[in-house]
Amino acid sequence: MTDDAHPPKLAVHELGVVARRGAEEGQRIVDAVSFFVIQGGVFTVVGPSGSGKSTLLRAVVRLIEPDAGRVLLDGRDVTALPVAELRRRVGLVFQRPAMFEGTVADNVLYGPRLRRECPERDGPEARDLAVPLLERVGLPADFAGKPADELSGGEAQRVALARALANRPEVLLLDEPTSSLDPTASRRIEELLAALAESTDLTFVFVTHDLHQARRIGDHGLLLVEGRVVEQGRLPGMLDDPAHDLTRLFATGRLSGRTGESLRDERPAAGAGPDDTGTLP
Ligand SMILES: Nc1ncnc2c1ncn2[C@@H]1O[C@H](COP(=O)(O)OP(=O)(O)OP(=O)(O)O)[C@@H](O)[C@H]1O
Ligand SMILES: [Mg+2]
Repeated sequence: MTDDAHPPKLAVHELGVVARRGAEEGQRIVDAVSFFVIQGGVFTVVGPSGSGKSTLLRAVVRLIEPDAGRVLLDGRDVTALPVAELRRRVGLVFQRPAMFEGTVADNVLYGPRLRRECPERDGPEARDLAVPLLERVGLPADFAGKPADELSGGEAQRVALARALANRPEVLLLDEPTSSLDPTASRRIEELLAALAESTDLTFVFVTHDLHQARRIGDHGLLLVEGRVVEQGRLPGMLDDPAHDLTRLFATGRLSGRTGESLRDERPAAGAGPDDTGTLP
């Protein structure tokens, strides 16, 4: 529960997205999803492939305009904020990091340049801004001048993280940031995120379909299936002692992909809801 001392940093109320094209056209791919996370909290969204996790994150930062519900940042409806301000304050790191043309420093300084907070061209001043960000994500200073298209997957994901941090976000949405990496690179990014969570008051929403990762990361979380919240609560407890059969199936690796119409008429498990989650122990 939140209280005056721990108001929600980010609150999502009954968010809904209807598919406007493709096989899902007309269906709710995100359906009445609610959760909140307090400042400094780590909230994990788990769910099988195609359950709407990426769509949910995109709707939070209005890369997709939600069809229903509200998103509040510090209690304020994000539709009242200019989109540029929303996306500076709430960063999104994508599943597959896309590097822009140019150097690593060009990529890292993309946001500050848009806001004219840093020099247009590479030089000592730009380097001085880029290097500390690279160091925060565990990359050496000489990466600043490297062409971004020469990076490995793990390095590119670190640069994507540095690019998000360059905006001094308050909330970071991470969409399966390690899913395209090998186990070692994946574990390193995970450790880096854990260190960031420990050393800053950044608020995280972490999406993963990896059960082991969900158990390691995040103090609270929810299971999304076919766009709907099946269950939410503390982690790893919710996965160890699920209230819902679908959570049990997911937690034992037996729930994958879309499950047809099975969930459409089901209600979330008793007790599931934003009041039961989002608080730190
Ligand atoms: N813009 C769109 N228009 C129509 N359908 C979409 C759109 N984006 C996603 N979908 C569909 O919505 C569903 C949810 O997709 P989404 O990418 O959010 O799932 P996901 O949980 O992130 O999956 P994964 O774990 O594979 O990344 C899928 O069935 C997908 O095909
Ligand atoms: Mg996704």
